[in-house]
Amino acid sequence: MPDLLRLVYASKANFDTSVAEGEKNPALSEILTQCRRNNEPKNICGVLCYGDGFFFQCLEGDRSAVEGLYDRLLNDGRHRDITLLSKRAVPQRMFRQWSMKFMNVDSKIRRMLQIENLDEFQPHSFSDLMVERLLVELRDASEKRRPAPIGTQGRGASARQAGAARELMPGLVFATAAGVLAIVFGLMLAGLI
Ligand SMILES: Cc1cc2nc3c(=O)[nH]c(=O)nc-3n(C[C@H](O)[C@H](O)[C@H](O)COP(=O)(O)O)c2cc1C
Repeated sequence: MPDLLRLVYASKANFDTSVAEGEKNPALSEILTQCRRNNEPKNICGVLCYGDGFFFQCLEGDRSAVEGLYDRLLNDGRHRDITLLSKRAVPQRMFRQWSMKFMNVDSKIRRMLQIENLDEFQPHSFSDLMVERLLVELRDASEKRRPAPIGTQGRGASARQAGAARELMPGLVFATAAGVLAIVFGLMLAGLI
């Protein structure tokens, strides 16, 4: 069984963050281009969340691949104050459809922060529980609800279609079962069986 690792860290952006969130920031664009280029061949996936000049990133993949990437990240001058929030072996991935999902901090995340009495997105101070809650929120956030500013960040159309098919499957099974039952009842009522 592969040694699957989930690593989460917080950092502060070192580049000009004056471009409003939701608009294209060239530095962010470049980072996401690198994520897409490098992560898929290494079978690394995850999410990068940005807000108020801070990053919150989750990396998932084979232990050696994730640790290698984290070492590179520690030496990347585009961010600083890199703080490990969580690093643990996990049975399965949360972001398997994404070479690197990108999310801006939005109103729903702001509400989560308010509940925790946090005025700003400062992931360095997040509790373990907040880290887990935010990961679930980021995993479940749809692209529609939160259009990211920088093009498409997924692992390609086929992976997204496969993900969508997986999500639709339970509904499809239920609809088919309901249809079969309706036909059986109809036949019984008609006295045919
Ligand atoms: C906040 C942040 C997140 C990053 N995330 C990734 C990532 O997920 N994958 C990656 O390959 N590089 C990432 N990078 C860039 C790496 O630090 C490094 O520059 C890059 O991997 C080098 O790739 P290259 O050798 O193809 O130029 C990130 C950089 C920053 C500042």
